[in-house]
Amino acid sequence: MRIGMIGLGRMGMNMVRRLMQHDIEVVAYNRSADKVDQIKQEGAIAAYTLQEIKDQLEPPRTVWSMLPAGPATDAVMNQLKELLDAGDTVIEGGNSHYKDDIVNSKEMADNGIKYLDAGVSGGIWGLKVGYCTMVGGPKDEFKRLEPIFKALAPENGYMHCGPAGAGHFVKMVHNGIEYGLMQAYAEGFALIEDSPFGENIDFGELSDLWNQGSVIRSWLLELAADAFKKSERLEDLEGYVDDSGEGRWTVLQSVETATPTPVLTMALMERFSSRRPNDFRNRVLAALRREFGGHAVKKAEDK
Ligand SMILES: NC(=O)c1ccc[n+]([C@@H]2O[C@H](COP(=O)([O-])OP(=O)(O)OC[C@H]3O[C@@H](n4cnc5c(N)ncnc54)[C@H](OP(=O)(O)O)[C@@H]3O)[C@@H](O)[C@H]2O)c1
Repeated sequence: MRIGMIGLGRMGMNMVRRLMQHDIEVVAYNRSADKVDQIKQEGAIAAYTLQEIKDQLEPPRTVWSMLPAGPATDAVMNQLKELLDAGDTVIEGGNSHYKDDIVNSKEMADNGIKYLDAGVSGGIWGLKVGYCTMVGGPKDEFKRLEPIFKALAPENGYMHCGPAGAGHFVKMVHNGIEYGLMQAYAEGFALIEDSPFGENIDFGELSDLWNQGSVIRSWLLELAADAFKKSERLEDLEGYVDDSGEGRWTVLQSVETATPTPVLTMALMERFSSRRPNDFRNRVLAALRREFGGHAVKKAEDK
C-alpha cells in the first residue's frame, strides 16, 4: 500500500516513519524542502510539489494532510479538490473543526473525491506508542484504508466514529477532557503543596505511587512523575498555560447544545487566567472592595 503525506511537522514526520515501519510506502511532501530531503534519506519517496505526490501514487490515490488547522489546511484542501481525480481519497488528519469537515466532504464529493476526517492523538510519543485515531466519513472507505489506521495506531487504537466530521468532533471532546484532567491534577498537587505536609512530599514519588493501582492512575500522571523528577517543584517554569483551540471549540459546542460542561469550561478559563498575572479584573475587584467597604488594597508600588 502507498499513501501521500502532506506536512512533515512534529506529527507528520513521525507518522511517515511509523507507516514505513509497517511496510506502507509514503510519498512525502512538505512546504520546506529540507524536511522532504530528510525523510527521503530514511526511505520515503520525495515529493516537492503536490503534483509530484499525485504523479507518484496509483489511482485510486490516498493523500493524508497533517497541517495546522485553519488557513494552511484550507489552502491545501482547496488545491487537492482541484488536483485529485474522482475515486481518490483525502484524509484530513490535523485538528480541523468538525464543521469544516462537513463542508470539505461535500465539496470533495462534488468532484467525486472521498473524504475522511481523522482526529489523531499521541503527540511526540506516537511514533513509539502509536497514534490513537478517531475517524469520520464513509465507513466503506474507512474499511478499505484500515491498514493505514492499523499501522498508525496502537493495538485497538482506531475507530470509525460516524459520518463526516465525527472523527474530529470526538477528537475535540477528547482534548476538552484533557484540559479538565490536567486541571484536576494541577489543583490537587497545589493543595498538597500549600498544606503543612507539602514540604515533605516528593511529588515524583507520589505520582508514581498514585499510578500503582489507584483510581486516578493515568498516562498524564506518568508524565507528571517525569516532570517532577526533572524539577522537584517545577521552578524552571512560568505558570503561563497556552491553549491550541480545541478546548475553546469544546466550550462553544457545549453552549450550542446547552450541555453543561463546568469542569471543561473552567479548565479553559483557568488557562486564560494564567496569562494575566496582574489581571484588570482583579484590580476592579480590589477597587470595588475599597470603595464600598474601605477594605485595604495592595498598591501597585507596594509590590
Ligand atoms: N503536536 C501534537 O501533539 C499534535 C497532536 C495531535 C494533533 N496535532 C495536529 O496535527 C497537525 C500538525 O501538527 P504538528 O504538531 O505536526 O505541527 P508543526 O510541528 O507545527 O508542523 C506544521 C507543519 O505544517 C506545515 N505548515 C505550516 N503552515 C503551513 C502553511 N501555511 N502551508 C503549508 N504548510 C504549512 C509546516 O511546514 P514547514 O516545515 O514548512 O514549516 C510543518 O510541516 C495540527 O493540526 C495539530 O493541531 C498535533
